[in-house]
Amino acid sequence: MALTIRPLHPTFVAEIAGVDFVRPLEQHTVSEIVAAMDAYSVCVFRRTGLTDSSHVAFSRQLGVLEHAPSLGAKRIPRFDHPELFDAGNLDAQGSLIQDGRRRLYNLGNALWHTDSSFNEHRAAYSLLLAHEIPPAGGDTEFADMYAAYESLPAALQSDIEDLVAEHWLWHSRMLAGYPEPTQAEREAKPPARHKLVQIHPGSRRKSLYIAAHASHIVGRPADEGLALITKLIELATRPQFVYRLKWQDPGDLVIWDNRCTMHRATPFEDTVHRRDMRRTTVYDPVASQPLS
Ligand code: OGA
Ligand code: MN
Repeated sequence: MALTIRPLHPTFVAEIAGVDFVRPLEQHTVSEIVAAMDAYSVCVFRRTGLTDSSHVAFSRQLGVLEHAPSLGAKRIPRFDHPELFDAGNLDAQGSLIQDGRRRLYNLGNALWHTDSSFNEHRAAYSLLLAHEIPPAGGDTEFADMYAAYESLPAALQSDIEDLVAEHWLWHSRMLAGYPEPTQAEREAKPPARHKLVQIHPGSRRKSLYIAAHASHIVGRPADEGLALITKLIELATRPQFVYRLKWQDPGDLVIWDNRCTMHRATPFEDTVHRRDMRRTTVYDPVASQPLS
């Protein structure tokens, strides 16, 4: 069956229908999805019927998968697959999270970010699958980092062309109210550096590579660098660059390209309602981008 691609926003995001996720996808279908990702950066698939196993298996058809980190904590994993990241608000027993520290950690997802920019080997795709959706709120927002880059004044584009930002997971967590990281947490996730402006290998377009994880600019005073990062994030997430995805049904899947978008979770009554979202993350096939 042919894929149907329906754009959902003037510059990015499409909904794709006609993919049968029950069996492994044929190579030509995978290629069509990759081409759609190069064109739209975010693709939504409704009611896929994917399970944990088929979610991981389909993700593997797109590349090599990250394993969810233990972050130095003795947290009991909720899933049988080490490739599944937990983006929900449930604990290992399937109850609403009681632990205040874990709740604060999760609130970091409400800041504009791109996944795994705090790793030296950055991520290409994230695939987020809904298992349980709260009755209200809990949408996910996306921002187009090509359109954001293209909107910048030429002088600002050339100022930032060769800048390198340092990204640190614990920077965004502390912005969200998480306490100072422990020694074990620091060792589990040291910072990583990436250029602010990157060329996407698929589309060959330039995009901004920024996130709440970015703490400063290499070679610049810390406060000056953070002020620039904050300004760029504000410019890049103006309403014209943002699409808000409403999750409708369990099985809804969204794939985003972390190299040319940012995203954030939006609020819901997380101490009252269940939201079970599970994510796989595909490494950028380019091992690491040169810093200069
Ligand atoms: C993620 C994430 C946002 C959400 O899974 O990487 O940021 O809405 N999720 O759950
Ligand atoms: Mn994320």
